[in-house]
Amino acid sequence: MDQRQAKARIESLVAEIERHNHYYYDLDRPQIDDEGYDRLVRELADLEQRFPQLARPDSPLRRIGGKPLENFEKHRHRTPMMSLANAFSRQELEDFDARARKGLGLSPDAELTYVLEPKLDGLALELEYENGLLVRAATRGDGEIGELVTQNVRTIRDVPLALKPQGEDLFARRPPAYLNVRGEVFLDRRGFERINRERAAAEEPLFANPRNAAAGSIRQLDPAIAARRPLRFYAYAFGGAEGLEVRSQWEWLTLLRAFGFKTSDLIRRAAGVEEIQQAYEAFIARRETLPFDIDGMVAKVDDFERQRILGEVSKYPRWAIAYKFPAQEKLTRILDIQVQVGRTGALTPVAILEPVQVSGVEVSRATLHNQDEIDRKDVRIGDSVFVRRAGEVIPEVVAVVKEARRGAERPFKLPKECPACGADVVREEGEVVARCPNRDCPAQVKESIVHFASKGAMDIEGLGPKTVSTLIDAGLVRRVADLYRLDAETLAAQERLAEKSAQNLVQAIEASKTRPLDKLIFALGVRHVGEHLAEVLARAFGSLDALAKADEAGLTAVFEVGPEVAGSIRLFFGEPKNRELIQALFAAGVRPAPPAAQTGEDPFFAGKTFVVTGALAFASRPEAEAMIKAKGGRTAGSVSKKTDCVVAGEAAGSKLKKAQELGVAIIDEDELKQRLGRR
Ligand code: IVH
Repeated sequence: MDQRQAKARIESLVAEIERHNHYYYDLDRPQIDDEGYDRLVRELADLEQRFPQLARPDSPLRRIGGKPLENFEKHRHRTPMMSLANAFSRQELEDFDARARKGLGLSPDAELTYVLEPKLDGLALELEYENGLLVRAATRGDGEIGELVTQNVRTIRDVPLALKPQGEDLFARRPPAYLNVRGEVFLDRRGFERINRERAAAEEPLFANPRNAAAGSIRQLDPAIAARRPLRFYAYAFGGAEGLEVRSQWEWLTLLRAFGFKTSDLIRRAAGVEEIQQAYEAFIARRETLPFDIDGMVAKVDDFERQRILGEVSKYPRWAIAYKFPAQEKLTRILDIQVQVGRTGALTPVAILEPVQVSGVEVSRATLHNQDEIDRKDVRIGDSVFVRRAGEVIPEVVAVVKEARRGAERPFKLPKECPACGADVVREEGEVVARCPNRDCPAQVKESIVHFASKGAMDIEGLGPKTVSTLIDAGLVRRVADLYRLDAETLAAQERLAEKSAQNLVQAIEASKTRPLDKLIFALGVRHVGEHLAEVLARAFGSLDALAKADEAGLTAVFEVGPEVAGSIRLFFGEPKNRELIQALFAAGVRPAPPAAQTGEDPFFAGKTFVVTGALAFASRPEAEAMIKAKGGRTAGSVSKKTDCVVAGEAAGSKLKKAQELGVAIIDEDELKQRLGRR
């Protein structure tokens, strides 16, 4: 294809994609299935990549998934790259197994084979091979859209650039026309230490853990630098193929090795919960001796057909689970205890620790939660303590080694005055948390701005705690609305900000103006309103104005909103200062995008055909059908190949059986309720 042809094709693709967007988003009447849509998007992405000079600034690719690409090209995965649900106990593992059996219509003692793999602690990559050659590699991104990092991935030695030929006769067998391989890119401990040694020598900031180092390396813009990072890659998941049939995870892993990929040596099969549990314990025993970090074990239903039947719940397949290892605890010493003031004024005592490695991460601070916890555990400055990191949460002090005390340890009491502003600290009846009541407290102001800009909120890149401090100290920002008045020149005049980062920051702030409504609601920092509730509220009220005006009854009418949450929302919007702030935000041009599901449509239901059978407890069958329709679904009276999903209530009979025979997805009442947003 030459440039002229490419230009014409790009134009027609853009027009077509826009048209489908319009049908899908505005008219609620999709004219094409997801696959067809993906194909258009992919073709456009491909052309934009091959002819970057032709990529249009208004390309629809730039809108999908939010952020404009700055460095790497965006890449829409053929099929979403899913996440894994976690289990933290044997009970949760058993629940998972029981759900899988139920979904498959298997009795508790029927055979159900799982493949067990280590849960590697790196980041997921997708590799695409066409006719045996590596053509694209992409990060997972948000699961739908990742970034093309092909150049960097080519530098990883574990990644075959060409698939090894299969079969006896090397030349008779052709590689599959298309192969989509997913796996984990990671660093082993030695590689991680080497990188940090080099960075220390170059006086560059160190990576906190191997995972961050791997992520930083794969997103390194200069492939020459990436090539020097000792990245590893283990393949573990199937993302699709043409010209190759794969029937199970076990077969896939075998094929992967034959194609020349590395897979973990720890992989094995298990036939039920008992065997999974035993393998899990064996994994834990091996954990420390492995050359790299693993943070759990993944159990996957082996059979692909069964995987298909089980399907997924939002981003989580119902056929796999990550059985997480217990948190690691390490011994260290408390050097000091400091008090942090959060955005709601909560005073949190924080232990300053002698730095220690916990599950591959250097820990030098740990939360002590509150005074009651300190008293209960009798934590003193100078104590030897066990600290623990569980998943992503902040490390905490678990217990004190009292036998190690030598008499110089000092007890600690939270101050009576706020360490940031000097206001008298209050602790309300029945509350464990002590608070600074001063809404103008500089610490609270700072934390609320940091929260506003944070990832799950307005996601203003480059506006972290340090920059916020700089802006506050310079008197440029006193509340979040002030952010929208900053200009690059003023910012660049600040010592800590280079001209380029000043410009980037202004752009990032500008881009945040149109974040979805739920992000803005969350960003405001209303007490008790986390990311999830913010989403619920955005959907229920559709605008900030409507939410602000809602009364107690209107709020509690929303499923999931109880009196406590309602009270705190009313309190927030009742405060004149907050109302002024919201006005100032709007005056500054903040225009949150209304929630997509405002029409009531939900991608789980939209355009799909459901059959409800058996008795439901929460609603009559016609009621349940009406609710499904309200979410954009269709309902039918009998099961056929065209049925997408059967809802099986109590004592479901022949329709359920038929669904099982046809391999139609089956959900139970609980899941339907959850999908409908009822509990
Ligand atoms: S399978 C459909 N297998 O865990 C499931 N993921 O929490 C797709 N991970 O994004 C993932 N080891 O980065 C799978 N053996 C393994 C894994 C693994 C690590 C990561 C992966 C994924 C995340 C999900």
